[in-house]
Amino acid sequence: MHTYGGERVFYIGVDLGTSSVKLLLMDSYGKAVKTVSREYPISFPRSGWSEQNPEDWYSETLAGIRELTDGVDKTQLAGISFGGQMHGLVILDENDEVIRPCILWNDGRTKEECDYLNEQIGKSVLSDYVANIAFAGFTAPKLLWLKKHEPENFRRIKKIMLPKDYLVYMLTGVFSTDVSDASGTLLFDVKNRCWSKEMCNICGIKEDMLPRVFESYECVGTVSDSAAQLSGMTASMRVAAGAGDNAAAAVAAGIIGEGGCNISLGTSGTIFISSDKFYVDENNALHSFCDGSGKYHLMGCMLSAASCNKWWMENILKTKEYMQEQENMGSLGENHVYFLPYLMGERSPHNNPNARGTFIGMSMNTTRGDMTQAVLEGVAFAFKDMLEIAENLGINVERSKICGGGAKSKYWIKILANVLDLKIDIPNNEEGPSYGAAILAATACGEYRDVQEAAGKLVKVVETIEPERELVEKYQKQYEIFRQIYPACKEIYDIL
Ligand code: XUL
Repeated sequence: MHTYGGERVFYIGVDLGTSSVKLLLMDSYGKAVKTVSREYPISFPRSGWSEQNPEDWYSETLAGIRELTDGVDKTQLAGISFGGQMHGLVILDENDEVIRPCILWNDGRTKEECDYLNEQIGKSVLSDYVANIAFAGFTAPKLLWLKKHEPENFRRIKKIMLPKDYLVYMLTGVFSTDVSDASGTLLFDVKNRCWSKEMCNICGIKEDMLPRVFESYECVGTVSDSAAQLSGMTASMRVAAGAGDNAAAAVAAGIIGEGGCNISLGTSGTIFISSDKFYVDENNALHSFCDGSGKYHLMGCMLSAASCNKWWMENILKTKEYMQEQENMGSLGENHVYFLPYLMGERSPHNNPNARGTFIGMSMNTTRGDMTQAVLEGVAFAFKDMLEIAENLGINVERSKICGGGAKSKYWIKILANVLDLKIDIPNNEEGPSYGAAILAATACGEYRDVQEAAGKLVKVVETIEPERELVEKYQKQYEIFRQIYPACKEIYDIL
């Protein structure tokens, strides 16, 4: 069905990212006809902390929807859905006012709370309840932090939600979330796809403070009259629950079912391995989450990926000429400079919020190009750390799709293909989560039977970057050096 009620229609996919909201208009043939993006501020109140105002997300999303749909016949807008930065703690009081700024996924303030959960409650108990252990940045440790450090705010909590769910709530009045995003709260029984009573007790919250859970492609409601007026949408538009940004990106890359792999080179860097069955890594180094298609995935997440390059280019070199800088890099596989990309601490595999970015190996001969190259390579080596965990679990990954802002660089993709020794398939859509969200909206409107059918029809590979034997071997030797640097610096990070 490529029409809805006999007309060509459109679906809106919204990716609520960390630096900006990206919106995409997809027609009923799966073509992305327009994209818009709008930035909002992020604040770092202390080293390793990061916060944003949910009100900023909402006002920029409304403005973005107006811009995206300008000139479109509103009666042709059929559905909207969302991909969003995961794990953020958004809390509302009895008047539906936001109580405090959202504490984001890359915020590292909860080390003490994570130690309590992992050591006092115990990793194996957590893993039994929710299939995961505590990482700073997950939602549950933030609730414990709030209870201790901001008890007055904690007492006012009536609703707890994830970032994209705040947008859904503002647009529909429906208090909802989806299984993939709920998985990253540490409050959600991933295997059974429901909230964990035990974890609610541990965090001192009532289950009715948590949203109703949907599958990503299910319709949670329609746009309210007031939100329709503010956004320029129509009140009959269906709203699908959506997904965490990585699960939405996986939908856009067609990574569904057993053994698929997607790498996201965004602010964070993730490696997403899809599966039909529920698996838990026995060391819980990889996250075990629900996906956007009704199944599961394993995922490793590094907190700073393309953001390292952005920091290096814009904050340090004071340039936006990314390609020009990369053209001045030296030979691949021969760099004497190494970079550890832990600017916001690290999640997978070190689980250490105290870790920090580190350059090492410079000499009087070192050039600006060597350091730029070290940043791109350091991120690739950190991806290899995560891939090794998956391979040690017996998962054989031979190829991966790729998405995210960093995937615009052919150099970076080549480095990744050779460091990881993987074939990298570039899909026909580069938008990732926003395109995945539009597919979820289309599925909720009945355009496709299920997410699998939609992805099968819409996602194509346009190019494959193959690893080159000689370069893979050079990078393997360099990786052996890279992996020794973190243990050598670990104690210093704790002192810093
Ligand atoms: C995933 C994670 C990040 C954020 C980024 O666990 O924390 O990928 O979702 O938006």
